[in-house]
Amino acid sequence: MSLHIGDTAPNFAAATTAGEIELHSWSGDSWVFFFSHPADFTPVCTTEMGMTAKLAEKFEQRNVKPLGLSTDTVEEHCKWVKDVDETQGVTLRFPIVADPDLKIARLYDMIHPDESETAAVRSVFIIDPQNKIRLTMTYPMSVGRNFDEILRVVDSLQTGDRAGIATPANWKPGEDVIIPPSVSDEEAREKFPQGFETIKPYLRTTKLG
Ligand code: BEZ
Repeated sequence: MSLHIGDTAPNFAAATTAGEIELHSWSGDSWVFFFSHPADFTPVCTTEMGMTAKLAEKFEQRNVKPLGLSTDTVEEHCKWVKDVDETQGVTLRFPIVADPDLKIARLYDMIHPDESETAAVRSVFIIDPQNKIRLTMTYPMSVGRNFDEILRVVDSLQTGDRAGIATPANWKPGEDVIIPPSVSDEEAREKFPQGFETIKPYLRTTKLG
């Protein structure tokens, strides 16, 4: 099944390293960073798991719960987490879904047969508190993900939700944002009393406080 931005993230119940979870009740009022890995005890995955654990505070500040997945068992995950902690200098606390029968990986289209029939590619789903998929990314097995980008996307989505804006290329929090073309100049004057710059009628920027 192919999932799109705006779809409801399919609910599932699964065994994880933190016990049984059911996605929609586990996520509660939080955002979810749901990300898949080809396999336990693999080098790229080990660094990604370590990085996610290192960024725990940054995810928490943004009300985001990380949730990993690979197509191995809870027992294997738990053994591997010890290696992650040891080699990456972290204490990994977020849950990792066990999916040895590939049920969830298939549900989320994480199995790309030209890469592997049994191991998930590196998928990312950013899911909002209403259980809507807000971002999907798919990386090949050989490429570790950019976690600055994952946090940046969350910042952009949350700022967009709050302020009704869009963000330009390579935007970072604090930089100018874009007023969407669907907002008229009149509405923009009301919504952004701090003013805005019109570079072209379709390209208007403003500063957020
Ligand atoms: C890794 O996580 O290190 C990895 C997994 C599958 C293929 C290549 C690298």
